[in-house]
Amino acid sequence: MTLIHGGQLQQVAEQYKIPRSDWLDLSTGIAPTSYPIPNIPLCTWQQLPQHSPTLIAAAKEYYQCSQLVVTNGSQAVIKSLPALYRQQNLTGQAVYLPERGYKEHAQAWKMAGFTLHFYQDSLPELAKLQPNCVLVIINPNNPTGQFFDRELIKQYQEQLINLNGLLVLDEAFIDVMPEQQSCCPQIVDEHIIVLRSFGKFFGLAGIRIGFLVASHYWCAKFKALLGPWQVNGPAQLIAEQALNDTDWHAKQKMILSQLRQAQEQMLWRVFTEKIVKAIQGCDLFLTLSFHQKDQAKKLYHWLCQQGVYCRLADEKDTLRFGIAKASELKRLEQSCLVAIRQLRQ
Ligand SMILES: Cc1ncc(COP(=O)(O)O)c(C=O)c1O
Repeated sequence: MTLIHGGQLQQVAEQYKIPRSDWLDLSTGIAPTSYPIPNIPLCTWQQLPQHSPTLIAAAKEYYQCSQLVVTNGSQAVIKSLPALYRQQNLTGQAVYLPERGYKEHAQAWKMAGFTLHFYQDSLPELAKLQPNCVLVIINPNNPTGQFFDRELIKQYQEQLINLNGLLVLDEAFIDVMPEQQSCCPQIVDEHIIVLRSFGKFFGLAGIRIGFLVASHYWCAKFKALLGPWQVNGPAQLIAEQALNDTDWHAKQKMILSQLRQAQEQMLWRVFTEKIVKAIQGCDLFLTLSFHQKDQAKKLYHWLCQQGVYCRLADEKDTLRFGIAKASELKRLEQSCLVAIRQLRQ
């Protein structure tokens, strides 16, 4: 089954008969400002991609870890992990996942025949985790924005070692959270892997590059599975420069934080507490939940009619907005006002 994600602008543009170029696309959690593309030498396009020790060094420094594998995005790992885990651990059956969250995780484990157990706002009870189980944590969660402290995650990491299980930490959006919260530096053995997406914080999802941070054991398994030439040369070159550019990281964090604050204030002002129950998220997206759940679907439709594309949750009860550029905020505000007027009619 193909899952629905944000970023399906072509399809939505056809459905609403509005030219693609006229849309304000806020359907993903990809930063609206992206790392500037450097000059790429012709040979980088012409040659097969090479293993790049300088990229590895830049990534180890940025992620503060000792082992990693360059991948063509976290999605590639999410899809192939269950079958690989099955080969290593024949007895494990149970996988604990957030009920709301990037659904590719659940789909991949389900397709590999595992039994899914969903948790809601808090992690499953430590004492109830089954031997050989897998625990998936998306931190911060997309779309709920829920964020678990590193010390709490450490307790689960220790329990999974005792249980011979695996902790899968998807840190796709953690770049915008406070420093020192990533679990990349605390990888000690084969009972934890961390997924780091490059495309979101750096605003370059199209180049398809990401990093699996894990022990030597999992890195070797994934290297063997993925084989050569997974990540194209231009993507490697861009990522290396971006990961090394600490001034740009600081600037990007500041810009995203300011844009998020302005957008969150605007959304509260326009939708008001009467309609919106909560706004959750991080500096890469904001998710609105409503007192009356059916309002999300109506608002989504009225926003689309005006060429504003956000993400309606699969459950059809929340709306997630990517962060708009400062120059786009007014249009978003006006479209939300029109949608609200329609809701009140
Ligand atoms: C939580 C989460 N993890 C992983 C991914 C996949 O990201 P990537 O672009 O690194 O494959 C996404 C994509 O939206 C996501 O939301």
